[in-house]
Amino acid sequence: NTPQKDNATNPAAKPNKGGLEGIVAATTAISKVDGTAGRLVYRGYDIHDLARTCSFEEVAHLLWFGHLPNQKELSELHERFTAERSLPENVLQTIRELPSTTEPMDVLRTAVSTWGAVSISGKPTIEQAIAVTARFPLILAAFNRLRNGKEILESRSELGHAANYLYLLTGEVPKDEHVQGLNSYLVLLADHGMNASTFTARIVASTESDIVSSLVAALGALKGPLHGGAPSKVQDMLRTIGTVENAEPWLREAITHGGRLMGFGHRVYKTADPRAEELREMARVADPDDFKLSRHVEETALALLDELKPGRRLYTNVEYYSAALMKAVGLSGDLFTPTFAVSRCAGWTAHILEQVSNNRLIRPEAEYTGPLNETFVPLADRS
Ligand code: ACO
Repeated sequence: NTPQKDNATNPAAKPNKGGLEGIVAATTAISKVDGTAGRLVYRGYDIHDLARTCSFEEVAHLLWFGHLPNQKELSELHERFTAERSLPENVLQTIRELPSTTEPMDVLRTAVSTWGAVSISGKPTIEQAIAVTARFPLILAAFNRLRNGKEILESRSELGHAANYLYLLTGEVPKDEHVQGLNSYLVLLADHGMNASTFTARIVASTESDIVSSLVAALGALKGPLHGGAPSKVQDMLRTIGTVENAEPWLREAITHGGRLMGFGHRVYKTADPRAEELREMARVADPDDFKLSRHVEETALALLDELKPGRRLYTNVEYYSAALMKAVGLSGDLFTPTFAVSRCAGWTAHILEQVSNNRLIRPEAEYTGPLNETFVPLADRS
């Protein structure tokens, strides 16, 4: 790693607005986000080339091993995934004991931690990366079945990652269009430069902690609405707006009163997010009726943001049409963010492995703004 220390040493950095904006925190060969050109690249491949043709497993292989797999390598990865598709009894027990009202994202974080406590130690390895990535959908599906009063299902070895996840949730072999939609979503979200959760994972890995500790921390970072927690809130917003006619007055009121429109804006993209463009097209096909309102709200919001926040150049981000697509493939709103994690687990683990392969503790500094010369008063003498 040759991270640049601060704005003074990074000529590309803008004046410090906080939030580490413009700070280069690591070097990586995994993915590049070009926010000016609106381009996302995984290990040299444009996201548009990967999104509609590759399976999630191919992309996970690309992120982990640095190249797209040939047929033999892909079959081997599929076998490794299927060999890992089971949950130990103590993890199932943890899932059973959580109240059925628990947020699935919290279930995932807790169950992954339980799994790590009994299954993982030592320096992160590729075997661990595959093992944990294989289990994220199992945890979510098990909880979803239990909270709906249904039996937990066994995975089906002939199904790929996306199809098996849908099967475990519903108990039915999913429709091809649902598998394709979810698979493309998993490909699009698998990695994204130094986003907040990936940075979190790398910080924990840099302390020489274990892979599951890094992932639990990353899950915590992803959960927040300014990062991965937005899509169900997009759905809430669209439901509240309800009709095309209500869009303009509702959005105007929200923006005028300083509200954040969920699914809009991005720290890095100063133009359209290429993932949002892919997802928009998929959402259009998946549910044309729902799409009409989503598209109208998008167009109206962008026009109003231009009018009310001139010069901000805000666009829809990946979360906006994620909500519509995931709803169309049959996922409930509270599974949207954990399904993001099902995808991003591949990127997180690739980054953890990259970090530990050439590690130096990530330990930035803070500019202290408090007092320096207070006179100490013993407890008994304080007023
Ligand atoms: N709605 C309305 N105004 C917005 C929005 C939005 N969604 N996003 C940014 N702005 C405005 C801010 O109000 C601010 O304007 P001001 O200077 O007049 O106050 C200006 O744009 C800059 O905002 P910042 O908060 O400095 O921008 P930042 O880079 O920190 O924000 C973020 C990025 C957090 C994603 C923001 O756009 C946001 O809150 N979006 C809504 C939540 C969301 O969609 N999250 C998912 C992000 S994608 C992902 O992580 C996978």
